Amino acid sequence: MSGPYASPRSGTSGPAVTLPTLRKLRQAGQPIVCLTAYDASFAAILDHVGIDLVLVGDTLGMVVQGHASTIPVTVDHMVYHTTLVARALKRAWLVADLPFLSYSDPSQALASAGRLLQEGGAKMVKLEGHAGQAAIVEALATNGIPVCAHLGLRPQSEYKIGGFRAAGRSQAEAEKVCEDARRLEDAGADLLLLECVPSLLAAEITRAAHVPVIGIGAGASVDGQILVLYDILGLSQSIRPRFVENFLTGGRSIAEAVAAYAEAVRNRSYPEPRHGFES
Ligand code: KIV
Repeated sequence: MSGPYASPRSGTSGPAVTLPTLRKLRQAGQPIVCLTAYDASFAAILDHVGIDLVLVGDTLGMVVQGHASTIPVTVDHMVYHTTLVARALKRAWLVADLPFLSYSDPSQALASAGRLLQEGGAKMVKLEGHAGQAAIVEALATNGIPVCAHLGLRPQSEYKIGGFRAAGRSQAEAEKVCEDARRLEDAGADLLLLECVPSLLAAEITRAAHVPVIGIGAGASVDGQILVLYDILGLSQSIRPRFVENFLTGGRSIAEAVAAYAEAVRNRSYPEPRHGFES
């Protein structure tokens, strides 16, 4: 394989993924493969298979803890699960979610993010953001903390927005998501993550961005894809969103299913148009 990697992107022998690696993958047009993990055993499989970015998502509240939303997740929970995952990773870039109400102002965000990096071993934090939170992103970025801004459907605001629904489908909403992306990138976000936005809008934001853009239910024209690990293994009990694909089929092992997902993202057979949203 040519491009940013001297060795194949599988096995744990390759160089550790860094922010410059992710930027080079975007520049080279090579899809960035991302998945969530919440413990050391699964994280070791993801790392071995060559997943580029592992997210300890606050979805752990739903898929691990059995809650109906991500709202009950605390910084302590996130730190604990991040330490488990960090212990197993040798190559992948590790991102941890800032949970609900842990980043209401810059000083609280710095304290929460500091714990995720110093105690948890994360290399980047993700927050569910909008333009009004630019000062929080700026405070984290100027203190040397890499930030991923999660835009579009923001599950931590589900009560405010009336449930888990796609974002940016009306002209006004689409302009708002574009503006949020621009403002948070200007404030110092190093990655953008778009959840459940129309594929054309995601393509437009990706073209305008100067940082890698990762999508979930955001179509194929972004720089990388992320899914919840338990969803690609067919484990999640809740309603199956349209972008979810079960890769644990045909007698595959878990490692083979994760590898099949990685291969599908890299050869662009996932996502298909049916996995995305229209305006
Ligand atoms: O918490 C999470 O797992 C996430 C993914 C859905 C991207 O934010």
